[in-house]
Order: sequence, then structure tokens, then C-alpha cells
Amino acid sequence: MPLKETMALKPKKTNRWLVACVVIIAVLLAAMATLSVYTVLTLSEQQRTLDSQHQQLLAMESAMSDAASKAESDLAEKQQQIDGQQSQLAEKNKAISDLEDTVSSLKTQISLKHEATRTPQQAEQNLPTRDYGDFSEKKIVALTFDDGPGPYTARLLDELKKRSVRATFFVLGTRVDSYPELIKRMEKEGHVVGNHSNGHKNLSKLTPAGIKTEMELCAKKIEKLLGHKPEVMRCPGGNYNTAVLNYAKEAGIPVIQWGVDTRDWESRNVNAILNKCFAKNGIKDGSIVLMHDIYSTTVDATVQMVDRLIAEGYTFVTVPELIHDREGKIEAGKMYR
Ligand code: NI
Repeated sequence: MPLKETMALKPKKTNRWLVACVVIIAVLLAAMATLSVYTVLTLSEQQRTLDSQHQQLLAMESAMSDAASKAESDLAEKQQQIDGQQSQLAEKNKAISDLEDTVSSLKTQISLKHEATRTPQQAEQNLPTRDYGDFSEKKIVALTFDDGPGPYTARLLDELKKRSVRATFFVLGTRVDSYPELIKRMEKEGHVVGNHSNGHKNLSKLTPAGIKTEMELCAKKIEKLLGHKPEVMRCPGGNYNTAVLNYAKEAGIPVIQWGVDTRDWESRNVNAILNKCFAKNGIKDGSIVLMHDIYSTTVDATVQMVDRLIAEGYTFVTVPELIHDREGKIEAGKMYR
């Protein structure tokens, strides 16, 4: 082949390649452009979706905030209602407390009225009716003897009888069992038999039921012998409390303490007993004197004391007579000394 022909063929071949390249590049460019457009479109779509989700979130947030603020205001309203109810409750409580005061005051009035009509109750208790006598112009003293009767009580009764002296004996139920005849003699000779409990227990350490049992045991023994219950009581050791006073009120009798304590059980000595009786703070008009007829020395001292008091112009009375003379009445459940 001639060179000229070869030279003319060569560019023709090159052009074809060029065109092919251009076409390929153009196709590639078109593809890229399409991809770009597609990508942009997709991104924009995603953006729109995100925007819409963001809007939804914002809406939800706002709805929640609204709900929270509504709940808060509801809570405040309920708190206000509770406060209101609480103040109503406080008012009602006060009304109840006022009512309780009224009831308590009415109860007191009823109990006072009850007290005023005690006499039939006293009869119901089988207590003796007594003419208390008039000692208003006299110097009086009430001798009391506790814890008996005992082996020396008969001698004491003899000595008192010789001098026409009357006294009060606070006896123990356990001793009443041993000396029933002396209990009868005491009453026959004008003395008063009082209740000093059955077994000399400390009443202030017992339950109300225990106090009643202790006192009623002795009261029933006395009642069996005398036909009536004792009209006065003295607590063992002088130990009493509200429950004891309540028992006494229920039994219709007073609780008797003392003004002069001879301490005869402690000294068991005639002169020591007399010294207590005639000391500056000893026996005076209206005194209640505490002694125990279970000691021989007490009987001896009583004889000397009584003779001296008679010489001084004293009249010997029983405890009910002394209280009646002093107060004009005797109140059940009251303590006298
Ligand atoms: Ni006693």
C-alpha cells in the first residue's frame, strides 16, 4: 500500500476513537449528572421528612408541656380541696371536743345530784342510822384503836367502861374471826366498829377490784355479827389513793386518818405514848388519836391518858360523832383526819 493512502486512512481511524471517547465521556457525564440530581432530590426528600418529624416532635413537646401544666393546676386545685377538708375536719374535731366538755360537765352535775340524794343509798348499803348528839359546847376527842381485836382488847374495854369512855375500833377481818364476841361487845358498850380491811394489805397497791375484795371481806364479817355494815373505814398504814376513795364513796362511808400519831407500835412504852399525846402538837379539841389495842403497853397508856384528859374536861366521842360535830355532815368517799 502506498504511504499516501496509509496516511489518509490513519486520521479516519483516530476520529472514530475520539468520537467514541467523547460519547463515552458524555454518557458518563450524563450519568453523573443524573446521579447528582437524584442524590439532591433524595436528600431534599429526607430533609423534608426530618423537618416534618421535627415539627411533630415540637407539637408533642408542646402537648406534653400543656398536659404537665394542666396536671399541675389540677394538683393545686386538689391540694386546695384537701386544705379545705382539713380545716373542716379541725372545726369538726373542735365541735366534738366542745361536746365532750359539755357531756363531762353534765356528768359532774348528775354526780352532784346523785350525792345530794345519798341517804337512800346509805340505807341500801345497810349502814346504821345514828343520833350524833350535840357536843358543840364541849372539848371532844376521838380515840381510835387499829389492828385488833387482840388479847388485850377485853381489858381495854373494861377500863373504858369504868370511865364511860367511848372509842372507835378499826378492826381487821382476820382478827374478827378470832374475837367475834368482842365485836358485839364493842357495839353494845357504845363504841363504833370501823373497817380496817381483811388482811392489812397496802390498798394503794391493789387494783380497784382488789381494794373492794379486801374491804368487803371485813365489812361482811362485821355485818354478820352486828346486823349492819361498818360506817367508817381506815386504810392499813394510812395508804390511800383515788381508787380507795372511790371504793369508800361506793360503800357510802368516809376514810378516816388521824391528827395525833402516838407511835405506840414503835415505842411500846407508856411514857413515850403519853409524851406524844401531851406534846405541843398532841391532843387538842377535835383530835383523832391513833393507837393499837394489840399491845399491853397501849392499854396501860390509855388508862393514864384518859384519866388526865377527863381531868382536863374532855369528852370522849366516836369518830362519826366527832366528824358530824365538826362538819355538820359526813361525806362518803371523803378523807378526814
Ligand atoms: Ni393498821
